[in-house]
Amino acid sequence: MQEKIIILDFGSQTTQLIGRRVRELNTYCEIVPYNKFPADDPSVIGVILSGSPFSVYDDKAFRTELAEIRRRYPLLGICYGAQFLAYTNGGTVEPADSREYGRARLTSIDAADPLMAGIAVGSQVWMSHGDTITSLPEGFRIVASTQQVPVAAYRVEGEQSWGVQFHPEVYHSECGMELLRNFVCGICGSRCDWSAASFIESTVRELKEMLGDDKVVLGLSGGVDSSVAAVLLNRAIGKNLTCIFVDHGMLRKNEFSDVLRDYEGLGLNVIGVDASAKFFSELAGVTDPERKRKIIGKGFIDVFDQEAHKLTDVRWLGQGTIYPDCIESLSITGTTIKSHHNVGGLPEKMNLRLVEPLRLLFKDEVRAVGRELGMPEHLITRHPFPGPGLAVRILGDITPEKVAILQEADHIFIQGLRDHGLYDSVWQAGAILLPVQSVGVMGDERTYERAVALRAVTSTDAMTADWAHLPYEFLAEVSNKIINKVRGVNRVTYDISSKPPATIEWE
Ligand code: XMP
Repeated sequence: MQEKIIILDFGSQTTQLIGRRVRELNTYCEIVPYNKFPADDPSVIGVILSGSPFSVYDDKAFRTELAEIRRRYPLLGICYGAQFLAYTNGGTVEPADSREYGRARLTSIDAADPLMAGIAVGSQVWMSHGDTITSLPEGFRIVASTQQVPVAAYRVEGEQSWGVQFHPEVYHSECGMELLRNFVCGICGSRCDWSAASFIESTVRELKEMLGDDKVVLGLSGGVDSSVAAVLLNRAIGKNLTCIFVDHGMLRKNEFSDVLRDYEGLGLNVIGVDASAKFFSELAGVTDPERKRKIIGKGFIDVFDQEAHKLTDVRWLGQGTIYPDCIESLSITGTTIKSHHNVGGLPEKMNLRLVEPLRLLFKDEVRAVGRELGMPEHLITRHPFPGPGLAVRILGDITPEKVAILQEADHIFIQGLRDHGLYDSVWQAGAILLPVQSVGVMGDERTYERAVALRAVTSTDAMTADWAHLPYEFLAEVSNKIINKVRGVNRVTYDISSKPPATIEWE
């Protein structure tokens, strides 16, 4: 049985990070809303309570009953989780006099405590809450302090329950991984055998059982998630998987043929559909970004549906949905937001059941699985690319001519990043065709041509992003190449806006 840690989510921004850290300890975990503990699941080996945007004494604070959990499993409360456990047992939690945000150092530690084993006095920890525990309930004992916060960590005597005021999951807590290892591997007794290889083995077994001889159809996009999902399904059911790769005409230069070749090299059964003419005609004259997206989204579903109907006996739709898309997130009002799917609308329209083999994985784990499956590195480390493709990077209306210009400029930029070893240091990059023309001079002639903006950002999740500080020499080289080689472009600019307030895409 796949043993697991349950993380009860009280709404903190770092809840997913706790999940990733536990997985880094080769232990499977699931994040569930704070009030949805799976009481009947025999595979649970321990429970972590996350932080929260609320204070424990707020009227709206998320509350749950912990008595049953405490009796049965090791428990670790982090930040709000620690305060909640202390507060609901008669401790006092108050707004801190001097809010201890950011870095702090542990000034005393109970070295005999199993949670604190091996952690040195002086270790840096990361605090981010305006409240502190000012008195502990009876039977709760301090196991670590900082200068400002006497109760930095505590243990409940006579049971396997702990609380830490700081955030062990964030990078800035130097001893964070050690502390989580002490909890997960030591106190909960995890076998620490969750890995890409074990995931593949168990998933392939489950897929075989679930799908039997059924046929599955899956839409490939060239991106990491759908590609890894396809290879994994292919490993389980072979030729019963048919993949459909739609070219809407807004892909990068040569992308359709290159990626098709990659897929075929991986042994996938792929149908490549060139539907670019349909998309160009439907997009003609459309300038509003949201309408462009709607037209492409609907067009994609129509083409996919049409192709899938040519296949016989298909029962399932495969999708590359990953864990962050599935976690029920808690909004501040406590309502839950439903999981979303990559290709919204398809399952309903096609009346197929969904199979999502990556729905338990974080992005970095998807990559690890891809590597373990022997997929080529360039498919695995590919930058994200928006579904509507270059359509949202051509400001204004779209014509085949504009797409061709942008494809050339984008190709020079991306190839340049690869040649200079910069591709992997950037989250995402591309060129944008601007709806302006400007004066230039080439030889003796005055020109009046288009401008291209280059955009490259660093990020970890696309929620926030900074513009990539690419070397000037590199930008100069790319700019020269674009202006010299791409007919119709006489000016190149570099976008130095961060997100927020800008977004990654221009449309
Ligand atoms: P923004 O522009 O919102 O982009 O900062 C965040 C991330 O989402 C991608 N993106 C899209 N992906 N369909 C997609 O599949 C879309 O319509 C779309 N719009 C933006 C964007 O490339 C970035 O990775």
